[in-house]
Amino acid sequence: KMTLHLDNAEKNVSPTLYGLMTEEINYSYEGGLYAQLLRNPSFKEIIRHRMPFHSMPVKPKFWELTDSINATMRVEYNKGVNRANNNYLSVNVTKPGIELLNNGFWGLPIHSDTEYNGSLFAKGCSSITVKLESDDNKTVYAQTTINNISDVWGKYYFKLLTNSKAKETKDAHFVITFNGIGTYDLSRVTLFPPTYNNRKNGLRKDLMTMMKGMNPKFLRFPGGNYVEGNRFCDRFDWRKTVGNPDERPGHSSPWGYWSTDGMGLLEFMQWAEDVGAEPLLAVFAGYILNGDHVEGDALKPFIQDALDEIEYVIGGADTKYGAQRIKDGHQQPFPLHYVEIGNEDFFDISGSYSERYQQFYNAIKEKYPQLKIISTIDGNALRTNAENPDEIKLDIVDEHYYRNAKDMYRSAFQYDKYDRKGPKIFCGEWATREGKPTTNMNAALGDAVWMTCLERNSDLVMGACYAPLFVNVSPGAMQWESDLIGYDALKAYGSPSYYAQVMFGNNLGNKIVPINAENVPLFKLTDKLGDTAPEIYYTATKDSNNGRVYLKIVNVTENKNDVQLILDGNSKVNKKGYKIELKSSKPDFTNTIDNPSNIIPVKSLVRISKDMKITLPPYSITILNF
Ligand code: AHR
Repeated sequence: KMTLHLDNAEKNVSPTLYGLMTEEINYSYEGGLYAQLLRNPSFKEIIRHRMPFHSMPVKPKFWELTDSINATMRVEYNKGVNRANNNYLSVNVTKPGIELLNNGFWGLPIHSDTEYNGSLFAKGCSSITVKLESDDNKTVYAQTTINNISDVWGKYYFKLLTNSKAKETKDAHFVITFNGIGTYDLSRVTLFPPTYNNRKNGLRKDLMTMMKGMNPKFLRFPGGNYVEGNRFCDRFDWRKTVGNPDERPGHSSPWGYWSTDGMGLLEFMQWAEDVGAEPLLAVFAGYILNGDHVEGDALKPFIQDALDEIEYVIGGADTKYGAQRIKDGHQQPFPLHYVEIGNEDFFDISGSYSERYQQFYNAIKEKYPQLKIISTIDGNALRTNAENPDEIKLDIVDEHYYRNAKDMYRSAFQYDKYDRKGPKIFCGEWATREGKPTTNMNAALGDAVWMTCLERNSDLVMGACYAPLFVNVSPGAMQWESDLIGYDALKAYGSPSYYAQVMFGNNLGNKIVPINAENVPLFKLTDKLGDTAPEIYYTATKDSNNGRVYLKIVNVTENKNDVQLILDGNSKVNKKGYKIELKSSKPDFTNTIDNPSNIIPVKSLVRISKDMKITLPPYSITILNF
């Protein structure tokens, strides 16, 4: 029996409860959300030769010549197009018609009647043809020729338009044909399909649509480990990620591959804007993943970096970096409320975080007192290490939880026990890790249980975001198993966990409704004495403006469970409501790229009364919206 005390819904739901977390992992941007299709566009990824072959020509990765007898290629490092791209590909051709191929990120998405916009820097070559071609070389989907290329660097734009008969496939590649002989120099070759909201240098439409469907309220970026980097030179150095994409040098991501930084600070914020979310900015805090860090005065340039970065995000036209943002294409400041200092600094065993955190905190608060600061380490740990314990100020603490489903059930009441006098909680990374590359129904159940805890405690929890968000499911692309949304070059799909997020994010009021539950059945998690958990979990919120109620119930076992639902209080209740259900006959069932709709939410109408019965199917997440 479950009683909803509708008249006692007093505590506020955080308006930023459900959001998104992102970083460059699993080919999330390159070969993922960032719509640019060609791999290694600036020839930065090279095959190095070791001694004694070190003087052999440096070859680029992911580009191949169709004829290596009548053509040779090498990456040159002198007099490139600009400082950021001082290298380029030089191809020497002794026979006309030789081709240079790029397979994209595990293929290219071919759609009918579609315009692909490309550009390249070139010099020295008279004429080249660019085309999209099938992997069996039988079909040319689109092609165009660029003539009169000068002998100094120039940028050349081209369009490739497929016709109405082009069959959808990812088994395709991009080709540059050298129409003459001689030396052809090429730099930064890019190709974009249509992008979300037609943004230049934009993002993939299907993935943006899926994220919008989650109704996210914030976007935590740029990480994750991606903020920190494996080396100092590979930290997220925001200055190198803004402005003309042709002038961004790129850097190595901590997950073992190259990032062009085509997805830079402005693209992150436009992404947030386009999905209706606000940015939640994590700044580099002087610590990198190998434990190396800076303290004291050496930290000052990095604090200045953070202040300038914030100015880029929210500064007006009269500020240096606000003006730069406007020049880069975004007039209005972004609605920034939260800044996070670093990422997972509980891994910093040197104990330097307290000092680093405090320096950042003081400097940011002095200039931007309205911003709320998120610490990546909890208050007690900070105080233990601090020289000035009383001055450590904590607005919000970021907690990360990667668990299996049973641990999610064990933790389902974790935040009910937290002291409300302490800092607010940001659950900046969490996931139930069951299934790969994307999660299965068992994970979705664990996730939903955890979200009942987040939601019931959303007076304390100011925000929460699942991680990782994306995985390219092509062979070799994944670094982190159990992800929310999977895709290849052509298609994308949501895991059951994704649909749980869609359901929770779209059915949320602004007040927490207290619930009393009686006789909730328990089940054994393991044979260990007392290791039991409830079979069902619940939370409810209400919209104080229109009285709409959102009840969420999760049934995690194979048992069908009947619930007597009492709607207590004088509040008027809508008689017509609807039910949204996500269920599976087996907990390890899932969705895949080829079978994307195995487990999806089903909506139906229900009659609501003040005393009613609902039946929860086995392994199910149910929402009543009335
Ligand atoms: O989400 C994957 C990684 O997990 C993040 O980069 C890091 O913050 C955490 O350890």
